[in-house]
Amino acid sequence: MMPVRAQVVACGGYLPERVFTNDDLTRYVATSDHWIQQRTGIRERRIAAAGETTADMATRAARTTLDRAGFTASDLDLIVLATATPDETFPATATMVQARLGMTRGAAFDVHAVCTGFIYALSVADAFLKTGQARTALVIGAETFSRILDWTDRSTCVLFGDGAGAVLLQAAPLNEPATDRGVLSTHIYSDGRHHDALYVDGGPSRTQTVGCLRMEGKEVFRHAIHRMAEASDAALAANGKTAADLDWLVPHQANMRIIEGMARRLELSMDHVVATVDRHANTSAASIPLALFEAVEDGRIRPGHLVLLDGMGGGFTWGSALIRW
Ligand code: UT7
Repeated sequence: MMPVRAQVVACGGYLPERVFTNDDLTRYVATSDHWIQQRTGIRERRIAAAGETTADMATRAARTTLDRAGFTASDLDLIVLATATPDETFPATATMVQARLGMTRGAAFDVHAVCTGFIYALSVADAFLKTGQARTALVIGAETFSRILDWTDRSTCVLFGDGAGAVLLQAAPLNEPATDRGVLSTHIYSDGRHHDALYVDGGPSRTQTVGCLRMEGKEVFRHAIHRMAEASDAALAANGKTAADLDWLVPHQANMRIIEGMARRLELSMDHVVATVDRHANTSAASIPLALFEAVEDGRIRPGHLVLLDGMGGGFTWGSALIRW
């Protein structure tokens, strides 16, 4: 088999219409716009409409991506959807998206790595393309965290939002080293000993309920930059690059202090960092593809740019992907 690389064809995204500002949150919990902005950089987030689900948002993001690429659902071999908030316990939300797009062949499945979910999904799709098991893959991150928040817990409910983003990958022959466009590497990691720092206190097997998100914010914060730095170092070393070679860092969007900490760690100016956390808050697996979509649409990320994706989340899970756009 001729060696191939997974090239990015297009990306897309979807945000629910309803904007929820920090001031809106003061109706639920004892908080303030000042505290939230100072500690997180978040100004507002989008919240899914009643009845609007992860599959609905994922399908909207998928359609935008296919439109931007000029592809149809019949061109797809694979959908890998990252989510921690599926519509149902089973079947996979990816299969719901598959049906709505009218894709009747290939495979569709979910992966679950919470806020690192998109990087995990990208890593899986990249491996399928490299081994010839698929030629065209849609990688989606989609979440409705508003449905698993404890709206009486100010330490968590102010931090998250809903949304979906997607990237279309296509296998291309790896015969010209001069054009190294595509996914250059992915690195994924987990350490399950940190369950108690970030988890949902429900589930089909343990409690037969959906449950609410619980987080030791300080503990997660303490690990975040360290883990994300480990993943970015691995990406750069594996490709013989340094941070100075990067055009863009697109990190998981949890907290502006973490994003700025990563930029400092890589000695990158914030002019090379895509940040959406102020308007999207933390959309978990959707945060990186939504940030990519925004930066591609407004012309910041352009063909040939070297883009580092980096994330960390519950599990703990963490990881990176280096892409020549
Ligand atoms: O996507 C997965 C990855 N997740 C993350 O990366 C999240 C990582 N953690 C964080 O971003 C931060 O730890 C938080 C934003 C969650 C919290 O910031 P912090 O600077 O670590 O604050 P803290 O938890 O130490 O709380 C400081 C104070 C406390 O009051 P006392 O005990 O000092 O009197 C909290 O009760 O702030 C209080 N507080 C709030 N006050 C107003 C906590 N939440 C709020 C709130 N509004 N929403």
